[in-house]
Amino acid sequence: MAQSAGDVIVVRGNGGLDGEVCIGGAKNSVLKLIAACLLAEGQHVLANVPDISDVSVMCELLEAMGVSITRTDHCLVIDVPAEINTEAPYHLVERMRASIVVLGPLLARFGAARVALPGGDDFGPRPIDMHLRALESLGATFRTSHGDISGTAEALTGAEIVLEYPSVGATENVLMAAVRAKGRTRIVNPAREPEIGDLVSFLNQMGAKARWAGNGLAIEGVEQLSPAGQHASSPRSTAGGIGTSARTEVGGTPADGDGYRVISDRIETATYLAAVGMCGGSVFLRHAVGDHMTMLIRKLTEMGMHIVADAEGIRATATQRLTSADVATLPYPGLATDYKPFLVAMLTTASGVGIVTENIFTGRFRYIDELRRMGADIRTEGHHAVVRGAERLSGAPVRAHDIRAGAALVVAGLAAEGETEVAGATHIDRGYDDLTGKLAGLGAIITRR
Ligand code: UD1
Repeated sequence: MAQSAGDVIVVRGNGGLDGEVCIGGAKNSVLKLIAACLLAEGQHVLANVPDISDVSVMCELLEAMGVSITRTDHCLVIDVPAEINTEAPYHLVERMRASIVVLGPLLARFGAARVALPGGDDFGPRPIDMHLRALESLGATFRTSHGDISGTAEALTGAEIVLEYPSVGATENVLMAAVRAKGRTRIVNPAREPEIGDLVSFLNQMGAKARWAGNGLAIEGVEQLSPAGQHASSPRSTAGGIGTSARTEVGGTPADGDGYRVISDRIETATYLAAVGMCGGSVFLRHAVGDHMTMLIRKLTEMGMHIVADAEGIRATATQRLTSADVATLPYPGLATDYKPFLVAMLTTASGVGIVTENIFTGRFRYIDELRRMGADIRTEGHHAVVRGAERLSGAPVRAHDIRAGAALVVAGLAAEGETEVAGATHIDRGYDDLTGKLAGLGAIITRR
């Protein structure tokens, strides 16, 4: 991995950022696409795969099941055999909660799955009740023992499933099960994130029949699926998420035919947008997809940034101190909870006061103590934070507790006076492909040790 050096990122506050950065494939998409490969025997090829440690964990998980995976320059060749071991062990699930998405594909193809129950994390409790209820509606039954959840399904049958909340993981699990269930499934109130759209496109390339219909997803089960990413001539699916448009950056088969291309990472994009907003300057984010992040672009524009999106990417410019704004996280197309650490960091140096409301993961404020160590004026009250902008933060030793919060501390350090040491950088490696190298390429004074 590009960032396997030390566990500390050292960053020094400096002037504006300038140049171009390439946005990689979306972590929150590729992990699910890898799981989806379990649905069909044969060789799947994924392109635009970010070099991040969560991808390594998902690969280890499939390898533990008997799948062969070759990883070369941003590409994965995934060979799924006819029979596999349908168990996902605790030591891997514990490292990455997203492993739970193997449940749907395993039940759909093998009628059995045993997955260690994921615990809570720095966001607070992370229940999977909606995943299980939705899969039960298709005919699966579950039993919990010794910290594992064991599922069986003689045969899955299509059903109408109403999600009381548009959970990303529950939508993915039930979608991957429904594509091989007998008959028609309708998911009412599914999550609509671009990564769900990417999964729909990927599954359809495997031969599934899934499409957006009204306020839901309509899936016609098929008996068999075939590997994805193999055929240069495959038509690009038009089943992308709400707000996606047909352009080269949206997931699908690239023109050269060497793999299904994972969509761009909108959270990585938000990270560089925040860096420009806090430091000033002008940066082109190649491959960033403006259509996937309309609300964030609006919010940053309201705060004083100039942002222009086109088919090649996004140009972001900041020429003055930002102005505060209020922020509330919501399911897509609302402002993503994953953007919030960056917005909070930006508010710490914006002029005025911003009120931030977390509606998705109410425990997701832990990094605020770290920002306070850098001189930020933030008061929290339940799931609200009141951020009063200071002229400048001051560099300090801080610790990353999760992927996005860790990256937000790095971004804050770029705009702080003096040196900031962000410990726990391996959390950042879970979701960032060469954060330090890419920021250095934009003129940041940043190293890893
Ligand atoms: C995914 C993303 C994560 C993002 C989140 C919300 C991945 C790997 N992770 O997480 O980065 O922050 O979407 O956009 O893609 N809930 C339940 N019961 C359930 C499932 C969820 O109560 O069975 C609750 C959760 O506790 C949370 C909310 O629903 O409060 C949203 O969770 P969900 O959309 O499922 O997020 P994840 O798929 O875990």
